[in-house]
Amino acid sequence: MRNLFARKPLEILLAEMKGEHRLRRVLGPVQLTSLGIGAIIGAGIFVATGAAAHNVAGPALMLSYVVSGITCIFAALCYAEFASMVPVAGSAYTYAYATLGELFAWIIGWDLVLEYAVGSATVATGWSGYFQNVLAKVGVHVPLAMTESPWRYSNGHFVHTGSVFNLPAVVIVIMVTMILVKGIQESASFNAAMVMIKVTAVIFVIVVGVFYIDWANYHPFAPYGWTGVNIFGNHISGQQDASGNPMGMLAGAAIIFFAYIGFDSVSTHTEEAKNPQRDVPIGIIVSLIVCTVLYILVVAVLTGMVKYDQLDIAAPVSLAFKQKGLGFAEGVIALAGVAGITSVLLVMMLSGPRVFLAMARDGLVPKGFFADIHPKFRTPWKSTMLIGAFVICLAGFLPIDALLHLTNIGTLLAFVIVCAAVLIMRKKYPNAERPFRCPWVPFVPVMGILTCLMLMFSLPTANWWRLLGWLLIGFVIYFTYGRKHSVMAKHLEQEIARHGAGGAYISGTHDE
Ligand code: ALA
Repeated sequence: MRNLFARKPLEILLAEMKGEHRLRRVLGPVQLTSLGIGAIIGAGIFVATGAAAHNVAGPALMLSYVVSGITCIFAALCYAEFASMVPVAGSAYTYAYATLGELFAWIIGWDLVLEYAVGSATVATGWSGYFQNVLAKVGVHVPLAMTESPWRYSNGHFVHTGSVFNLPAVVIVIMVTMILVKGIQESASFNAAMVMIKVTAVIFVIVVGVFYIDWANYHPFAPYGWTGVNIFGNHISGQQDASGNPMGMLAGAAIIFFAYIGFDSVSTHTEEAKNPQRDVPIGIIVSLIVCTVLYILVVAVLTGMVKYDQLDIAAPVSLAFKQKGLGFAEGVIALAGVAGITSVLLVMMLSGPRVFLAMARDGLVPKGFFADIHPKFRTPWKSTMLIGAFVICLAGFLPIDALLHLTNIGTLLAFVIVCAAVLIMRKKYPNAERPFRCPWVPFVPVMGILTCLMLMFSLPTANWWRLLGWLLIGFVIYFTYGRKHSVMAKHLEQEIARHGAGGAYISGTHDE
């Protein structure tokens, strides 16, 4: 029992960092914010917006973006407090290990792998839609059998799409996997170029699109209502589709939450920040606020340009311009979409193996495989390829909405744990140094937990079962492998042998 809640003390984390090759501290607040925007703007706004407005929220989707953005701001403030308290490279997994103990660290780590792998498949599927849009502009059409997943879930039934698998999605995942095995220098300047392209495209959509708004398109504003909440299949409020899935403004917020995922990746650059305690929180929060404002404006313009039920599902932003007869703009936006979504895919596929690497170094997953660094390329090549293969299966054969919902529920769970962890830490260790303090505690973390849970409940119920299934698999691996090989557990046993049962690394007993 004690091992389950063994914490990894901050001193050990910092000592481990010293042992590794240190990165240069070169990133200031502007670059960190730009990295955040680079990881955020992608398939969510360019792709998911179409289906969400079309099937779930109508023009009220612009308010869904407000709700989802506010939810993320609560979580981001909690994230920022952790990033400043535990200023070492890593993610929520490392924070949980340092604060809540091994079992929670495992849950978050395992959950993050789900988020990154399934999120990558979602992004790849979105990429495929835009890429086919670009190809069509130059008269090339992918054969129907290779355009999308073989089935779609619609009105309670699996509907065959006529396709066999999503070839462009599979190809982009193979290419990105190969690039990552070979190793990319994560370069702030490459990212800055991608951010320029994406943000320019988004601003272009806003300033040009605004002239094509037809006010009649905003009526009805909320055709599916304002709510849309289910709890484990029990209808609580709002409309439902034929399969019992919630519809309405809140249900829309749960879907387009995907568009905001990525701000947390700023914390993985802590080690390269010039002034991590100040600039990492700035990067997280400013990138989120910039994206929230841009997103709300884009959706307001889009649903004003084209009636919500005529928005395209695969490439809604670029095709809205085609629908208005602006063929040139369509091509430019589709190209920017492809470039922007590719950069998000790179970040997401890079992150999964990194989480596994951290877990392997702690002995929770096999070191020989997940921490095996390629002798020439210096990358965790085996886990990159394993995750790549998993993402290929998902992206090739599953529809984008199923993938997106699963990514969202997994990420929302991680946010709930991070918000709860801030509350627990404030109570247990009120005097620990916090260079960035989340404001209005306990209001902000409590609201973070409640709003994330509300969005989780607004997702179709099947996702809860999928998430629980994933966590169950995780528990089996943890209890049959991780617990027995945990490096911390071994330390703990040695401590106990030396000092008796009041050892130093047990949650709540370690001297702060
Ligand atoms: N927020 C990222 C995207 O929309 C994951 O692609």
